[in-house]
Amino acid sequence: MYKNLVKTSLFLLNLPPFLYLSSFLLFFSLPLYPAPLKAKPKTILVTGGAGFIGSHVNKDLCDAGYQTIILDNLYRGSREAVYKAIFIEGDFGNAHLLDQIFKDYLIDAVMHFGGLKDVGESTQEPIRYYSTNVGSTLVLLEAMLRHEVKIFVFSSSAAIFGQPLMENITEEHPCNPINPYGHSKLMIETILKDLDKAYGLRYSCLRYFNAAGGDPDGVIKNHQLKNSNLIPIILRSLEEPNGHVTVFGMDHKTFDGTCIRDYIHVKDISAAHITVMEKLFNGEHSQNYNLGNGKGFSVNEVIDTIEKVTGRKINVTASSRREGDPPKLIASSQKAKNELGWEPYFPSLETMVEHAWQAMP
Ligand SMILES: NC(=O)c1ccc[n+]([C@@H]2O[C@H](COP(=O)([O-])OP(=O)(O)OC[C@H]3O[C@@H](n4cnc5c(N)ncnc54)[C@H](O)[C@@H]3O)[C@@H](O)[C@H]2O)c1
Repeated sequence: MYKNLVKTSLFLLNLPPFLYLSSFLLFFSLPLYPAPLKAKPKTILVTGGAGFIGSHVNKDLCDAGYQTIILDNLYRGSREAVYKAIFIEGDFGNAHLLDQIFKDYLIDAVMHFGGLKDVGESTQEPIRYYSTNVGSTLVLLEAMLRHEVKIFVFSSSAAIFGQPLMENITEEHPCNPINPYGHSKLMIETILKDLDKAYGLRYSCLRYFNAAGGDPDGVIKNHQLKNSNLIPIILRSLEEPNGHVTVFGMDHKTFDGTCIRDYIHVKDISAAHITVMEKLFNGEHSQNYNLGNGKGFSVNEVIDTIEKVTGRKINVTASSRREGDPPKLIASSQKAKNELGWEPYFPSLETMVEHAWQAMP
């Protein structure tokens, strides 16, 4: 033992001086205590995250430091719209796949954008709409509860209200949907209320009319293969050889005879989703919020603005009014303003059109 000590001392004495110095520096640079752990980013499962709204919310979540997992069957969405996230191609109604996802990743919350959204189609194919929007969403909710995930943000719709009984639709407006799409959204809202009572699932339902705009950074394109919203329909008509736009009703009781609708920038919708989710993380109770621009725009105003932004002439065909088309649909966002401090950051129609035009794939 004594011999070994002498050997080691002799060896150390023979070391070149720079090695003494670096060992000294290394020793004193070692922390005495482990460095405090950085908070682990929360993981969000985003269904329908390859679609229009989901892809923008996913980008904002990633930019805000969340880890995201997108589950989308690409029925309408596009793989190219997926930014940074872990992407899983599949159906949110597949219980087996959901169990696997909840086992593989520690999910903190689910944002649910997946589903079918075409009002007209829903009247022709109600079973498909109820099966996906209600049946499959129920499968997703059951899977969440099996895996103890109890925070849910739901992309509902102003279609739950039906014919407007007041100028600005508040959260107190009676819910009388007039098509299977609206019914399917209301059914999930009702189910969520019961799941909160029974299992403590906390949720937020956000209702809006027409999501518009595009990524101001120009990173995400609006890839969805089919979009029943007015602005993309008109923009696409400009790209088609004989493209034209049909305006249903020029004799509505509005200032220029065309329907007035509430358009809201997809980035503003995204901001509201993230805010309500963070409120839920901080212990907030379940809530419903209407999201609107505070101001509607008529079909003619949309056409004029698109012509101005793109510098192109739109080929317009006038048609008679569609049955049950209310002249004016505007959401009141007063509750979202008061409780979330949320206000549209991009309320101008011109900005929405510019961003949508720039986001054309
Ligand atoms: N776009 C609007 O103006 C608007 C207005 C109010 C409410 N919403 C609601 O917001 C949500 C998102 O709308 P969007 O405009 O982004 O629609 P979208 O069609 O662009 O996106 C929906 C996504 O869900 C996916 N999907 C559909 N069925 C699926 C399934 N069974 N499993 C997995 N993925 C599936 C599609 O592939 C698509 O990527 C929808 O629930 C819609 O009802 C949209």
